[in-house]
Amino acid sequence: MNGSPYLKLQNGTGVARCKPLSPALARDGADGYDRPMNTRQPLKVAIVGSGKGSNAQAIMDAIQEGRLNARVVCVLSDVPDAFILERARRNGVPAEFVDAAPFKTKLDGEGEQRYLQALRRHGAEVIALAGFMRIIKPGLLTAFRNRILNIHPALLPAFPGVESWKQAVDYGVKVAGCTVHFVDQGTDTGPIILQKTVPVHDTDTPATLHARIQEQEHLAFPEALQLLAEGRVRVDGRIVRITV
Ligand code: GRF
Repeated sequence: MNGSPYLKLQNGTGVARCKPLSPALARDGADGYDRPMNTRQPLKVAIVGSGKGSNAQAIMDAIQEGRLNARVVCVLSDVPDAFILERARRNGVPAEFVDAAPFKTKLDGEGEQRYLQALRRHGAEVIALAGFMRIIKPGLLTAFRNRILNIHPALLPAFPGVESWKQAVDYGVKVAGCTVHFVDQGTDTGPIILQKTVPVHDTDTPATLHARIQEQEHLAFPEALQLLAEGRVRVDGRIVRITV
């Protein structure tokens, strides 16, 4: 994959091989497919989240406004009454509560299988984790290798984990921000696609800083997805290289 101007989308052991975009776009069928640069084919994005869904809304808005060549094939949530599902319905996007039991903080076992089935049924090409409050385990990571993106409200590797904006205020950093990265087996450790910064003011509270970070998240996630849609992203070890 090194040196290729394409996003290499491999399926590892082939546990859950996704349908190629089209025969014309498939390059090396057996172990995945490449997304050609500047293809007009919309990227098929599944959004998975547990909360209010402002990032999901930003992604849907970017598509609507022509800034992102994608189609949201579904929004899935592990919380039955999460507002992210309502946002999807209001935008005409299939919205589903998918039970993640039996575990509370990870997606594994039967819950993971239910998500895999839903993602396959909707034909997801990439998964955008937008406030999904669970650890992703190897079953899904293998099935969607280098195709699961997460947005994190900090400049990783600083402040992984929860309430990063509070960690930033408490630590006294002068610059904070957000990170869009591929998901790997660690917590907030995967290869970084892009980051955006915001200043931290002396008067900031965790809430005011979080609001400022979220404004940048709403730009960052659609931008990262558009890079994928354009086939400009290569994953080279833990380095993400963007073709100019
Ligand atoms: C965002 O702050 C994101 O960075 C974190 O979870 C939050 C989700 O917010 N991973 P929303 O549901 O998209 O509004």
